[in-house]
Amino acid sequence: MTTQRTLAIIKPDAVTKGVVGKIITRIERAALAIIAAKLVHMTLAEARGFYIVHRERPFYESLCAFMTQGPCLPMVLAGDDAIRKWRDLMGATDPAKAAAGTIRKDFAASIEANAVHGSDAPETAAFEIPYFFSSFELWPR
Ligand code: CMP
Repeated sequence: MTTQRTLAIIKPDAVTKGVVGKIITRIERAALAIIAAKLVHMTLAEARGFYIVHRERPFYESLCAFMTQGPCLPMVLAGDDAIRKWRDLMGATDPAKAAAGTIRKDFAASIEANAVHGSDAPETAAFEIPYFFSSFELWPR
């Protein structure tokens, strides 16, 4: 397996709750490298652009409003099989369906306020990583 990169976001609900450190500890224990990170308070236009793939879904506007409620922490994670590893750590989108020990089971309140985001495929990561980070912000460059 070659090294993969994925975009992870610690969402505003988890930042407000003060569980950023706990989530990052899980990332480090899974041997995923954080190669970029920054706190971002998105505008509505920025959130709409990020979730453009969901624009026809009934939850789109509510999701975008939720993502602008406060700062979030986008990160780029790197490692073998990073996309699947991060999705396994996150758990199912709906915390009610998430497995025990996953981030969403432990920290998410609802399918919308679900604590974290992760790219679902290499093509998605290729859109999502440069949405937040330039090549100069990735370490090593
Ligand atoms: P995320 O992994 O960020 O990708 C898209 C987001 O849309 C998802 O997490 C949820 O926060 C949100 N989402 C997906 N399905 C629903 C739904 N049925 N109702 C509300 N929000 C949803």
